[in-house]
Amino acid sequence: MNAGVRLEQLAEIEAAIRAELARAVQTPTHEWRVGVLATTDGRAGDARSVVLREVADDAATLTLFTDARSAKVAQVRAHPEGTLVLWSHTLGWQLRLRVTLDVETEGLLVSSAWARLMMTPAAQDYLSPLPPGSPVEHPAPERGSRGHFAVIHAQVSAIDWLELHADGHRRALFDAEGCRWIVP
Ligand SMILES: Cc1cc2nc3c(=O)[nH]c(=O)nc-3n(C[C@H](O)[C@H](O)[C@H](O)COP(=O)(O)O)c2cc1C
Repeated sequence: MNAGVRLEQLAEIEAAIRAELARAVQTPTHEWRVGVLATTDGRAGDARSVVLREVADDAATLTLFTDARSAKVAQVRAHPEGTLVLWSHTLGWQLRLRVTLDVETEGLLVSSAWARLMMTPAAQDYLSPLPPGSPVEHPAPERGSRGHFAVIHAQVSAIDWLELHADGHRRALFDAEGCRWIVP
């Protein structure tokens, strides 16, 4: 986005949000590349940092990678509604994306993503012989040989956009009913 230019129209703000999300996955230093994904186990809320891996369908679909044995996968399977929070200091923009989550652990999409990842150091994240969160004797985890890689698809149903700005904060909602300004 052009620094210093303040977008006025909701349609152009929405287009800029979607373009910025696409840019985030291609730019390792983009502040939206890592977000916080909130889920629930039905009793309590949970949240953790995740890397945005792919953005498709004009940012209506986001893709994340995880360990199939992680707590978030069990939570998502039981309660697919979550929220992904992204903040960029550079843009002054917070996004709260309402998402419906779906986990895929096998099939062509998963095996081709894993085949690409296997060649990189990031593959280590999915090779632990024990599930994430298991107690261990030593902090540096052992490595197994089998991958436990899973892909999480996030279908975006609503975008709550908040802009922090010296001239006044602004907030807008983009969802199935359209777009509208709301009180920050
Ligand atoms: C900067 C950063 C990026 C991370 N990216 C991911 C990710 O893309 N996928 C993932 O499963 N965990 C990622 N993690 C680890 C998670 O935040 C979390 O610790 C782990 O997935 C276990 O979460 P869970 O027990 O809620 O499943 C990341 C952590 C940090 C600090």
